Amino acid sequence: MRNNFKGKDFLALKDLSREEILYLVESSLGFKKKWTNNEPHEYLKGQVWAGLFEKNSTRTRNALERAAADLGIKLVYLRPDEMQMTRGEPLKDTCRILDRYFDGLFIRTFGHTIVEECAKWMNNPVINGLTNEAHPTQGIADLMTIYENFGQFRGIKICHSGNIYNVAYTTMIMSATLGMDCFLACPPSLKPNKDIMEIIMNKAKKTGSKIVVTDDYSKALENADVVYGNAQYSMGQTDEEIMKLKEAFAPYQITMDALNKANPNCIFMHCLPAHRGEEVTDEVMESEKSVIFDEGENRMHSIKAIIAAYANK
Ligand code: CP
Repeated sequence: MRNNFKGKDFLALKDLSREEILYLVESSLGFKKKWTNNEPHEYLKGQVWAGLFEKNSTRTRNALERAAADLGIKLVYLRPDEMQMTRGEPLKDTCRILDRYFDGLFIRTFGHTIVEECAKWMNNPVINGLTNEAHPTQGIADLMTIYENFGQFRGIKICHSGNIYNVAYTTMIMSATLGMDCFLACPPSLKPNKDIMEIIMNKAKKTGSKIVVTDDYSKALENADVVYGNAQYSMGQTDEEIMKLKEAFAPYQITMDALNKANPNCIFMHCLPAHRGEEVTDEVMESEKSVIFDEGENRMHSIKAIIAAYANK
């Protein structure tokens, strides 16, 4: 397909068609090839982007910094605590000012409505670097990693163990769109967001993909090609919430025994950071099935592909 993204916003994978997602995955693999072959790719030389992070980040921020450098973009890292936005300046004013200075905004924030609001007030592209509901740059990197290991998407089964939050929703959405099966293993007390699940299930109906939220961990692991670990709790949750989630998720830890219940050729993925000894054991993290550092590297290639596709050039 042609690149139809120019000047638009990349907010969530739920907004993208199968073809659009596949285009971004293919382009990400192309950027990885250029990186591996040391081919220069300064396609956006002269552009200046802002990276606004309201939450901590190791991978996303540094992958963005390197991606920008390789594309020839000057990236200006913005800390909200140094800006007037933390002293009450409305987001719509901040966005219209940033839009005058920068060719695009990459933002990590809290509620998903915040990135939608940014997109509303900015003409230049807004790229979502994580909200409470979606982590779409992670999703494209994860798809790259799955493709590198299996050479296809249709028929692949993912078992996800961890909090039902941004990464879980993104994993279900990309599965439903591309015809993969996704089983979320989680305690019965945890219920996913109904509105997001409706979007996911509508997509799944079209592709025939099985999306299942279950407390039956063995069923979720059975024949899984990808065992995906995620933190049991997320940034911004209270100590009390964290304690309850850790207790409820204890039976869903990813151990070598759990991996042995999956497909013998399965891989272990994790968006990271991982909490060794909580959602996953040290042994699994270091096992030959673990592709977590390839997955982390792929964050950089996919961010390049996303920015290159959406930039106004
Ligand atoms: N996976 C992920 O988003 O990592 P960081 O929080 O380190 O950016």
